[in-house]
Amino acid sequence: MSAEIINGRELADELRERMKEDVEQLSEQGIVPNLTVIIVGEDPASLSYVRGKKRASHKIGIHSDLIELPETTSHQELLHLIQQLNSNDEVHGILVQLPLPAHINEDEVIETISPDKDVDGFHPISIGRMMAQKDTFLPCTPLGILTMLDEKNIDIEGKHAVVLGRSRIVGKPIGQMLLNRNATVTYCHSRTKDLADVLRQADILIVAIGKPAFITGEHVKKGAVVIDVGINRLEDGTLTGDVDFESASEQAAYITPVPKGVGPMTITMLLQNTIKAAKLKNQ
Ligand code: GUN
Repeated sequence: MSAEIINGRELADELRERMKEDVEQLSEQGIVPNLTVIIVGEDPASLSYVRGKKRASHKIGIHSDLIELPETTSHQELLHLIQQLNSNDEVHGILVQLPLPAHINEDEVIETISPDKDVDGFHPISIGRMMAQKDTFLPCTPLGILTMLDEKNIDIEGKHAVVLGRSRIVGKPIGQMLLNRNATVTYCHSRTKDLADVLRQADILIVAIGKPAFITGEHVKKGAVVIDVGINRLEDGTLTGDVDFESASEQAAYITPVPKGVGPMTITMLLQNTIKAAKLKNQ
């Protein structure tokens, strides 16, 4: 079997075209969705991500400001800036790029962002609402993954979903969101015993551990859906996922590539959440 490739780039482009119309309609009512992104420090990969977020916003008519702060910014200065943005009526969405420098308390930063502007879906109130299955901002990468599964009409209910990785940004929320859709969910991580055996039970395998080609065909059940969230830059500069694409696609029914897989969907969901924030503010 050779798997069908789920092309996140194409799907993201289609969705962004639809969003552009949404944004045009809002601007006819005098509402321009506004996303403010904050980055602290000069990590080149993070800078490249946030500039990509700004570019993607502008392309569909969302106003986006990027605030680049020096590495030496204090915890209090960052909290103060977030509080100002919280009370600025023109700002609909606030995103603080992670990771933050070690001297800044990440949890406190996330908790300072108003839940009404939490387009990342990382605030404990957003997470609690997600767990309670209330309408809320859902984190962008997991939401992008669910959107890909839905667009391909892949059934989730009753399926065994195995999530490898337990980060705040991807692993934990995607497991909860799949559970909310009636999947049977197993979380795996660095301490999981008999990992390969568990992985081979997956109907839907989500891999988010940041280790190049960690998953190979021998971990994949025939006919499984494999979602590769890894973005690893090799020494020669090429991007590669956490899954060995060639051997895994021999086993899987569906697979996402890297690049052009989950990555473009993440930014697309950020745009979607920003539009949602603008609509909520003005409803
Ligand atoms: N760093 C890596 N991914 C993300 C993300 O989705 N949101 C934020 N805020 N920081 C990140």
